[in-house]
Amino acid sequence: MGISTTRIETETVPGEAISKERSVRPCVLVLFGGTGDLSKRKLVPALYNLLKEGLLPAAFEIVGIGRSAPDEEAFRALHREATAKFSRTKPLDDGTWANLAGRVHYVRGDNESPETYQALTAKLSELDATKGTEQNRIFFFSTPPSAFPVILAGLKKAGLLHSSHGPKGPFARVMIEKPFGHDLESARELNKMAAAFVDEDQIYRIDHYLGKETVQNILVMRFGNSMFEPLWNRNYVDHVQITAAEELGMEGRGKFYDETGALRDVLQNHLLEVLALAAMEPPVSFKADEIRGEKSQIFRSIRPILAHEVESEVVRGQYKGFRDEPNIAKDSKTATYVAARFMIDNWRWHGVPFYLRAGKRLEKRCTEVAIHYRAVPLCLFGRDEVCQRLEQNVLVLRIQPDEGIEFSFMCKQPGDDLFVSNVKMDFSYSRAFDRQPPEAYERLFLDTMRGDQTLFARRDSVEEAWALCTPILEAWQNDPGIPLYEYDPGSSGPTAADDLLKTTRHRWRPLA
Ligand code: BG6
Repeated sequence: MGISTTRIETETVPGEAISKERSVRPCVLVLFGGTGDLSKRKLVPALYNLLKEGLLPAAFEIVGIGRSAPDEEAFRALHREATAKFSRTKPLDDGTWANLAGRVHYVRGDNESPETYQALTAKLSELDATKGTEQNRIFFFSTPPSAFPVILAGLKKAGLLHSSHGPKGPFARVMIEKPFGHDLESARELNKMAAAFVDEDQIYRIDHYLGKETVQNILVMRFGNSMFEPLWNRNYVDHVQITAAEELGMEGRGKFYDETGALRDVLQNHLLEVLALAAMEPPVSFKADEIRGEKSQIFRSIRPILAHEVESEVVRGQYKGFRDEPNIAKDSKTATYVAARFMIDNWRWHGVPFYLRAGKRLEKRCTEVAIHYRAVPLCLFGRDEVCQRLEQNVLVLRIQPDEGIEFSFMCKQPGDDLFVSNVKMDFSYSRAFDRQPPEAYERLFLDTMRGDQTLFARRDSVEEAWALCTPILEAWQNDPGIPLYEYDPGSSGPTAADDLLKTTRHRWRPLA
């Protein structure tokens, strides 16, 4: 049963952080791994759309570093083809592409060789002199993490990593793709290593979920309305479910995924970041470090799952046929599904389970946060056990697809008898706004150019998230008794995940 909400035509309110600094500074974006998959599918298409919408600064140049394209023309051609295919806006606009292509440069070389950095330095000086890029540089590492130290050392040696000199001085910033480490120790080492080359205010650790409109809207919904916050605590909330379900399987990423698995790939970063936004206290202001400080508090309040609790608090699964995919070990124990129950030890959330689940090859693509409210204390319209079983009120923040928010509540069915039904109020982004939401990378590029780190993961939070996940990974590795459940592709995951919730008398929301 559906009731729709539409946008009320009122003035839009520019947020403080946005109105403060709309303008982005002139700069050069250097893409390490410029011929790789991420550059082709996401990064260059994002830049194309930013240019199309007039959001890039007039002085903006791109330098790709890679090996597979023989020269600049080939580099541009490969990105033209990829952007036509992967851009969110189609068909490719020739004028915009020609404008972007004129800003695209290429340095052919590998990350280890000093000549690459010499050639890059010469190119950057030339662009500063001819295009007015004012020695502002953003270095994007779209490479395996093993390449980070060598790239940072190469840039440092070439004198390209100058510290920030105030808001108007030249900047050098690095954007680093996940995975940021593969456990707590490696994340700490990576952070320590990065800190030897650049300051924390120069590091932009990407979690592309934070660039999604619907993820950012969690804070606007919580702190831009007075009616939700009083109900956002253990007095009213029974439990919270955070889901990232995917229909897709390996898509050619078998080698990476077999070493990674669902816990490292999605739960450690995307899901814990979303949990932090859903559970954090109101920040003092919308400034980057105020928000990141509150998120860090939440990570520190999450009760660690200890080795002996892993079997009862976490379920891992693998879809049937995973081991037959290319580049997957025939005896792989990699989890393609994970579900976990986390408790937050603070005043707001004490006793409220947060269930997180992520998986590949499930029945439906669905990412959402569902706040399940407590049942009414006394059932006036039916038998008590029916009331207790039926969830009267669930608030669902639909991250993707079908972006929106829905709220279910009880309603009297029309008629002279007293029958009640559960109905939904439904807000849909596509119905309320006529503008297509930007891709996450568009926002993340702009914020890096502005020097706004709000939507990037801070050093302490990355390590805290790994501290929560590492004991689980270790228990899986060291205790052969912890089961790895099989599930059918196209299902909602292993049935053991349902049992995980049954112990606390809950059940997962259906994916379909
Ligand atoms: C990435 C993971 O970080 O996020 C992928 O490495 C996953 O395995 C992807 O598919 C999901 O992102 P999105 O934006 O499609 O939900």
